[in-house]
Amino acid sequence: MNKNILMLGAVICAIVLLVSCGGNEKKNEQIVNQTEKAMDFLELTKQRYSERYFDSTRVVEQDKLDRILEAGRQAPTAANKQPQRLYVLKSKEALQKAAAASFSPLYGAPVVILVCYDLDSVWKNSRETLLPDYNSGEQDCAIVATQMMYAAEEQGVHTIWIRGFDARNVKEAFNLPDNMIPAMMLPLGYPSDKSEPSPKHFERNPMEKMVTEL
Ligand SMILES: Cc1cc2nc3c(=O)[nH]c(=O)nc-3n(C[C@H](O)[C@H](O)[C@H](O)COP(=O)(O)O)c2cc1C
Repeated sequence: MNKNILMLGAVICAIVLLVSCGGNEKKNEQIVNQTEKAMDFLELTKQRYSERYFDSTRVVEQDKLDRILEAGRQAPTAANKQPQRLYVLKSKEALQKAAAASFSPLYGAPVVILVCYDLDSVWKNSRETLLPDYNSGEQDCAIVATQMMYAAEEQGVHTIWIRGFDARNVKEAFNLPDNMIPAMMLPLGYPSDKSEPSPKHFERNPMEKMVTEL
C-alpha cells in the first residue's frame, strides 16, 4: 500500500515536472522570438535612409498608406492627448502648394503627410519650469512621424523628414485654422533608379559621444 502511494507520488511529480518544463520551453521560445523581433527593428533602422529620389509616377497602394497612418494613430502622446492632425497630400495641386510653401525640396514624392498638432488639444505645461510655455506638440508629432517612417520602411516605401519650411506659409497655403501648427512633412513613395543614401547617412557619432552613464 505504502509502496503504491510512493509510486503514485513519483508519477505525479514526473508529470508536473514535464508540464512545467514544457511551459518554460514555450516561454524561452517567446523570449527568443521577441529578441529576434528587436533585432529586426534595429536592422530596419540601419536600412532606412532619407529618400531624395522618389519615383513620382509610382502610386503608393492605399492599404500600405493605411498601415502607415495606423502606425501614426498608435503613437504614444503626452497624457494621451493625441493632438496630431495629419493631412494627406496626394493631388497635384496639394503637392505643388506644399512644395511652394517649403524651402526644402520635397524630392518629387507622390504623397506627402503634413503632420500638425492642434494647440487646443495639446498637453501644456502649467508649472514654473525652465520652459514655462512648453507644450508637447513637437514631441508628439515627432513620435507619430517616426512610427509612420518605420511603418513605411517596413513595407518598402521610402520617406524623408522635412522641416525646411516656414509654418506660416504652410498654414496659409492650406488655409489651416489658427490652432493648427504644422510640425513637419513626411514625403513618401517608392525609390527611383537613382535612389541612394546621402554621405551624411553614414555619419553617426560613436556611442561614447552619445551616451553618458551617470
Ligand atoms: C528634424 C529633421 C528635419 C529635417 N529636415 C530636412 C529638410 O528640410 N530637408 C532635407 O532634405 N532633409 C531633412 N532632414 C533629413 C536629414 O538631413 C537626414 O535625416 C540626416 O542627414 C541623416 O541622413 P539619413 O536620414 O539618410 O540617415 C531632416 C531630418 C530631421 C530629423
